[in-house]
Amino acid sequence: MLPQILISVGFLLACGLVLATLLLLAEKKILNYGTCQIDVNAGRKTLAVEGGASLLASLAEHNVFIPSACGGRGTCAYCKVKVLDGGGQVSPIEAPYLTPEERQDQVRLSCQVKVRKDLKIDIPAELFNVVRFRARLAHKRPLTHDIVELRLELLDPSAITFDAGQYVQLESPDYKGRESVMRGYSISSRPADTHLIELIIRRVPDGICTTWVFDHLQEGQEVVFSGPYGFFHLNDSQAPIICIAGGSGMAPIWSLIRDMRDKGIARPATYFFGALTQRDLFFRDEFKQIEQECPWLHFVPALSQEPADSDWTGERGLITEVVARHFPDASQHEAYLCGSPGMIDASIAVLTQNGMPQENVFYDKF
Ligand SMILES: Cc1cc2nc3c(=O)[nH]c(=O)nc-3n(C[C@H](O)[C@H](O)[C@H](O)COP(=O)(O)OP(=O)(O)OC[C@H]3O[C@@H](n4cnc5c(N)ncnc54)[C@H](O)[C@@H]3O)c2cc1C
Ligand code: FES
Repeated sequence: MLPQILISVGFLLACGLVLATLLLLAEKKILNYGTCQIDVNAGRKTLAVEGGASLLASLAEHNVFIPSACGGRGTCAYCKVKVLDGGGQVSPIEAPYLTPEERQDQVRLSCQVKVRKDLKIDIPAELFNVVRFRARLAHKRPLTHDIVELRLELLDPSAITFDAGQYVQLESPDYKGRESVMRGYSISSRPADTHLIELIIRRVPDGICTTWVFDHLQEGQEVVFSGPYGFFHLNDSQAPIICIAGGSGMAPIWSLIRDMRDKGIARPATYFFGALTQRDLFFRDEFKQIEQECPWLHFVPALSQEPADSDWTGERGLITEVVARHFPDASQHEAYLCGSPGMIDASIAVLTQNGMPQENVFYDKF
């Protein structure tokens, strides 16, 4: 009985797959949209594209790169642009990601808008600076059991300009039957190093891009990425700083702190770095060194699952508990947070309960 059920289910699945493929082919062949014009930012660029693809892909083909952390699946909402004319109806996939104000402003998910006719769109001016780079992997260095640091030396173009806190989108190629994808990674190197970028990447079990990085990408190999993207950067103020990060969330903060040192910005900064146990900590020696150079910096690693009888003498507990102990009054500070959505939301709750205005909290969730 069971084999018959399995055969029937398999047959139905195969039929579904064939039908979906036929529909896609039909749309491509039968619905020929011809060449469409995309007018970007009221004539700043006019692109002639072949209709039928997504707006996101059509723009990328003409070197206009929109952030797309989920690679066009319609789940990250990073790819928002204003479609002023020709975009059609908001699809059910887009709807949950658009606020009433964004709908009013004609904001759309560019990965979900099909180019079927001429379009008029508006994108943030910074995105005209985004470039696609070829680079060589100069080193891949393990930082912990599940985090590596990549150093990418730029080949073409050979230099990059970015603000500490920004990120790039790394492109993983097809490998072992897994599709090519683009994923966002914060730049951990200093903006002053213009001929390379470094990334700090944590392995995600069965993740497409991270499995490629950990198991397939070799030193000396060429890689492709686009960037810089994002608006996470040091605010122009004099307020003392609280940084909170965990795991690979170290990346933008590591860049930001060394950029402050390079630029002689001496705002008092306390950096809380959360990890489970000592084996999840990294850059301890680097922070000891930089604390000696920069008396304004205080690095506070905190462990939440370190065995009670270990030799660890530093802070213990959830990072939010440690922050609350150090800053019962955070009303005069600014905060820069980077890590998982859960950690960021919990940190924002603690900081605002302790008096920090919400508008003084800046973060990158991933
Ligand atoms: C702005 C930004 C900056 C970032 N910076 C960093 C950084 O500095 N360092 C870092 O390590 N990461 C960073 N990330 C996260 C990074 O972009 C990737 O999300 C992460 O590396 C996982 O990618 P992956 O391709 O390996 O995993 P994916 O293949 O995307 O899989 C992720 C998880 O989702 C599951 N999954 C995959 N596809 C589906 C599906 N269709 N349905 C349900 N579940 C699915 C997988 O099983 C896996 O558990 C950043 C993200 C953003 C948005
Ligand atoms: S690329 Fe992620 S929602 Fe469009």
